[in-house]
Amino acid sequence: MEFSVKSGSPEKQRSACIVVGVYEPRRLSAVAEQLDKISEGYISNLLRRGDLEGKSGQMLLLHHVPNILSERVLLVGCGKERELDERQYKQIIAKTISTLNETGSMEAVCFLSELHVKGRDTYWKVRQAVETTQDSLYVFDQLKSKKDETRRPLRKMVFNVPTRRDLTIGEKAVEHGLAIATGSKLSKDVSNMPPNICTPQYLADQAQALCQLSSKVSVEVLGPEELAKLGMNSYLAVGRGSVNGPRMSVINYRGADNDSAPVVLVGKGLTFDSGGISIKPGEAMDEMKYDMCGAASVLGTIRAVLQLELPINLVVVLAAAENMPDANAYRPGDILTTMSGQTVEVLNTDAEGRLVLCDALTYVERFDPDVVIDVATLTGACIVALGKHATGLLSNHNPLAHEILNASDQSGDRAWRLPLWDDYQDQLESPFADFTNLGGRAAGTITAACFLSRFTRKYNWAHLDIAGTAWRSGGKDKGATGRPVPMLTQFLINRVNQQQDS
Ligand code: BES
Ligand code: MN
Ligand code: ZN
Repeated sequence: MEFSVKSGSPEKQRSACIVVGVYEPRRLSAVAEQLDKISEGYISNLLRRGDLEGKSGQMLLLHHVPNILSERVLLVGCGKERELDERQYKQIIAKTISTLNETGSMEAVCFLSELHVKGRDTYWKVRQAVETTQDSLYVFDQLKSKKDETRRPLRKMVFNVPTRRDLTIGEKAVEHGLAIATGSKLSKDVSNMPPNICTPQYLADQAQALCQLSSKVSVEVLGPEELAKLGMNSYLAVGRGSVNGPRMSVINYRGADNDSAPVVLVGKGLTFDSGGISIKPGEAMDEMKYDMCGAASVLGTIRAVLQLELPINLVVVLAAAENMPDANAYRPGDILTTMSGQTVEVLNTDAEGRLVLCDALTYVERFDPDVVIDVATLTGACIVALGKHATGLLSNHNPLAHEILNASDQSGDRAWRLPLWDDYQDQLESPFADFTNLGGRAAGTITAACFLSRFTRKYNWAHLDIAGTAWRSGGKDKGATGRPVPMLTQFLINRVNQQQDS
């Protein structure tokens, strides 16, 4: 898909389709008004006859509108003008794109990017339009023997901006939007891949493939032997029941001076989480192939960073393993010595994510990080707390938490902070080891983060629990979301901008 920005008047566009908004009730947007004048009231006549009320998401495709150079005009209902918010804007764009794609327009000039969205500027509207377009055209059909072909697919979108002065901003927005879309797509593809193909080694191969894209990237993959040498016994225990052994990929991107401390991103990469000996119930167990979405999202983020060539240092760790029941598997009751030296009593082998992450979080101390963010489908409890809308955020450093929340707000990739008070730490007490891997029923997301916090005392750290946001469950709509690639990429873009300002 090709994107560009333009600043022109609607009647002068010679395109397969021009897209303009109509508010409820039957009120033309400024651009629709212009078309109406040129076409001598053709559009207002239709509205008067009741063909379109303007309710949010309504579509009316017109052909051969008098005196208009474009072949088609797509009228898009935008709801009440004063109520147009971010969520509605994205829904409208998504619906527009699927309508265009299904009705034969291979290119279109879209004026919806000029609508007034509460609190958002041109940059935001264009970037969201690009991201939403790519997201709504996404399909994962690599493994279908017969693919659904669209006969005349949408190939080219032009987003219009109000004045020529907005062009530079608009182009930046397209560039950022495309990079985030590329990262999200990689993240979704890897996440949707089935667990018989997407193994820990497969994730390592994806990491290694990044080297082809830039000379600033190097990748090291650690297998069971290397992990054992480092004393990462907790990580190793989780992978011990699987024939697809653990792989930890360490991706190093040097976009800035050697002396600038890196941002480190660590992703949970359980390519399948059966629960192990504490085996999960059968219902929807297939969805535990998505237990590597944390790793996929940090991979997608570095992909976006490569496309933007951001001047930062970034280390990305994919902590991959498979959690299976087996004669060799680790068991409830086992006591593990982590890389940090702290001992953990395993009370449930299904609380495996924290056991993998804790050693990866100790490992990354060696990079002297500026900040460390881990991303993980860590707890079902996070879905109970926040549903499928917000990522859970927990942090040992308030400025970092605020920085992430800002990025979340700007990118529209929601996150919500939960407390990490010491009060919760007691739930991890063990009579036999330093602590357990299980915090009990209350506040499961927080006690999981409490567990991790015992391994992150040496640096500023944030934890993102994406159990609710990484994929959509159920029927036809099932699939990875690519979140939180937009939030993390925004976080890194903001850091570059702050550096340049100071
Ligand atoms: N990967 C799961 C968490 C999960 C479950 C994410 C369902 C998304 C949907 C994690 O490894 C897990 O099993 N967590 C347990 C922890 C419990 C045993 C303390 C959970 O949430 O039930
Ligand atoms: Mn589990
Ligand atoms: Zn898991």
